[in-house]
Amino acid sequence: MTVKEIFDTMDYGPAPESAGDALAWLVDQGASFGHFINGEFTAPTADFESKNPANGEVLAHLSQATQADVDSAVMAARAAFPDWSGMSSHHRARYLYAIARLLQKHSRLFAVLETLDNGKPIRESRDIDIPLVQRHFYYHAGMAQLMASELPDREALGVCGQIIPWNFPLLMLAWKVAPALAMGNTVVLKPAEYTSLTAILFADICRQAGLPKGVVNIVTGDGSVGEKIVTHEDIDKIAFTGSTSVGRKIREATAGSGKALTLELGGKSPYIVFDDADIDSAIEGLVDAIWFNQGQVCCAGSRLLVQEGIADRFYAKLKARMANLRIGDPLDKCIDVGAIVDPVQLDTITSMVAANTAGETYHAPCDVPEDGCFYPPTLITGLAPSDLLMQEEIFGPVLCSMTFRTPAEAVEIANNTRYGLAATVWTENVNLALDIAPKLAAGVVWVNATNLFDAAAGFGGIRESGFGREGGWEGLMAYTKPKAETEALDKIEAFPGDTSEIGSIDPLDRTPKLYIGGKQARPDGGYSQNIYGPDGQLLGQSPIANRKDVRNAVEAAAGAKAWSKTTGHLRAQILYYIAENLAARSEEFAARIDSLTGGNSGAVEVDVAISRLFTYAAWADKFDGQAHNVPIRGVALAMREPVGVIGAICPDDTPLLGLVSLMAPAIAMGNRLVLAASEAFPLVALDFYQILETSDVPAGVVNILTGPHADLAGPMADHLNLDAIWSFSSSDLSGSIEAKSAANLKRTWVNNGQDRDWLGDAGEGREFLEAATEVKNIWVPYGE
Ligand code: NAI
Repeated sequence: MTVKEIFDTMDYGPAPESAGDALAWLVDQGASFGHFINGEFTAPTADFESKNPANGEVLAHLSQATQADVDSAVMAARAAFPDWSGMSSHHRARYLYAIARLLQKHSRLFAVLETLDNGKPIRESRDIDIPLVQRHFYYHAGMAQLMASELPDREALGVCGQIIPWNFPLLMLAWKVAPALAMGNTVVLKPAEYTSLTAILFADICRQAGLPKGVVNIVTGDGSVGEKIVTHEDIDKIAFTGSTSVGRKIREATAGSGKALTLELGGKSPYIVFDDADIDSAIEGLVDAIWFNQGQVCCAGSRLLVQEGIADRFYAKLKARMANLRIGDPLDKCIDVGAIVDPVQLDTITSMVAANTAGETYHAPCDVPEDGCFYPPTLITGLAPSDLLMQEEIFGPVLCSMTFRTPAEAVEIANNTRYGLAATVWTENVNLALDIAPKLAAGVVWVNATNLFDAAAGFGGIRESGFGREGGWEGLMAYTKPKAETEALDKIEAFPGDTSEIGSIDPLDRTPKLYIGGKQARPDGGYSQNIYGPDGQLLGQSPIANRKDVRNAVEAAAGAKAWSKTTGHLRAQILYYIAENLAARSEEFAARIDSLTGGNSGAVEVDVAISRLFTYAAWADKFDGQAHNVPIRGVALAMREPVGVIGAICPDDTPLLGLVSLMAPAIAMGNRLVLAASEAFPLVALDFYQILETSDVPAGVVNILTGPHADLAGPMADHLNLDAIWSFSSSDLSGSIEAKSAANLKRTWVNNGQDRDWLGDAGEGREFLEAATEVKNIWVPYGE
């Protein structure tokens, strides 16, 4: 295009970025790469190619890691772990700082290489991806520095296996590697097979920074290499970003292994435009929401919900804007939409859109290059919430849309998805925005903005968008564990009966029942079991709950959702009230515990339980969120929200305290609960519901079931309306619970057969409050 033509058309002329340095770097390295293990590159085996999706050219040959490669990477990481985790916080901070500096110095090389390999516009890799990568390492250099003083009770997990996708290759690496290293872990990372090049360049940066050998190891290859990492016995944690289907497989594959797990999965995020929104800004926002990175963004605003009254005007303006989007050579600085990562992904997008018969499809009339992986910006209007394209992630530049009438309807449609990653709200009415944001089922909400990210604000989803957060203080939880020593837990058996004692029970003994929806309920199956004391004497019967009772209890808990909206102050009052009522009957409870367990620590247990209720009453209105100081004109409000309905299998050994230790933090944070009481000593839990009944706990907030844990765990882990499951049972259930939880990717917190001192400090504290809450980051414009 000549200057005259540009002048005549007022169009942009091409402004190509040179690929010279990046291509020279590739040639310098032989354009064939091995794995980065123990600080060195292995000999390349050239098993597959990395191509430029914009023109199909081969950029480099890559090696597919074998089991032996993965083994040596893990071994190197393990060997490096003691020194790396043992060095001073400051010393580690200096390494992270050095990496950040080097990333900055080579920022253009990284940006161009990323664009060549992935197809994203250079404008994005240069101005968004790479600066965010640097920011992540700087921020976490700070976290490394502060670890000793701010997280004195936490320590590194060990060797972390990290598996990342192709949509933000280096950024996802940074999100995983920076916090892991800052907290003293060592890593084995696998980039996606389409986009490994910036990870390899990063390995070189680690060498330049003098990072001790083995702290970062990078192996390349496809999903089968990922599987080798996931199932490796000597890995302590898996962090994964990618598709929900692979996330689910990883949940199943790691079940029962004791590995920590975080999953950052797919989304179908709503983008809600109210009729009073600044329409032009909202349309510009959409360009960033769905055409940023060709829509290959897990949190892309891919479901547009427009208020009915402005829909026609909005769509007309949107189409006009779409017609002006420039699609083409990603290295051209004037390009808005680059190439799709690979022909496979292009096929997926093309066939999903082609198969759709609902609504009206509009492809932007852009000049789409004929060669290379390009797909035009597309808008599909007039869809219904149940249409496949409103439910399934397309992961391409395709915006699916429908209208709504009222704010309540907008929330209803927005939440009508199995995902819960992000949401965007456009309105000039701050009251409306702040009313809607908390109602949206999402880990991140942007108000009058979209796709904002920062290292200080945690990112991650709820529901089938996965669990765990990346960034912020909350992100550190995923790379640390409590320092407390633990020991193997033995199965706590109920006492057997002595038949000569049968008949000793008081004929006026009451019939303990299950406690469901604020009412005493007979077990559905009509079975009870005898509970014997240490001398074989019959102490009473406890009901045996079945699958139907679990369902009833979950339904009751789901119905008690008003509890999650109550104030911390009110929840504190109720916890104090429970403590007060328990204190009034402490001798009776102590005696009951001693008669059940045959011990003499009942009085201590009741005392600690009362103190624990006080602890969480205290926390109910103090476990606050934060206002993150993010580098935009705004703040990110990190609000702590209850997880929802939690199924909790109580410890067997301290039958009252164990139950209180799980119940109190959960309800203090606004959750509703289905509790499976101690299997060996259930009767005290059935006395305890009398305390709940007299303490103003609303019906359905706490439900108590008794029976064999092994029979209750399955239906609980399977239940799609349970958001989380905790198990501290002495039965070996961790593996089966984790495997079954994959169905709806519910959060799990299980003991992995490790004991916990419920009478001591390990029985309470922040760990419980963290598990009982989920952080939602609400980004709001603020200040200047
Ligand atoms: P994917 O989930 O298959 O791949 C992501 C990473 O996991 C890659 O490194 C891959 O090699 C690895 N992987 C694949 N199978 C594995 C296994 N069984 N065990 C361990 N690691 C495994 O994603 P893919 O195929 O690249 O894209 C398919 C769809 O996934 C996309 O269309 C999109 O809907 C979604 N996706 C979502 C992302 C997100 O950020 N939420 C990122 C990438 C893809």
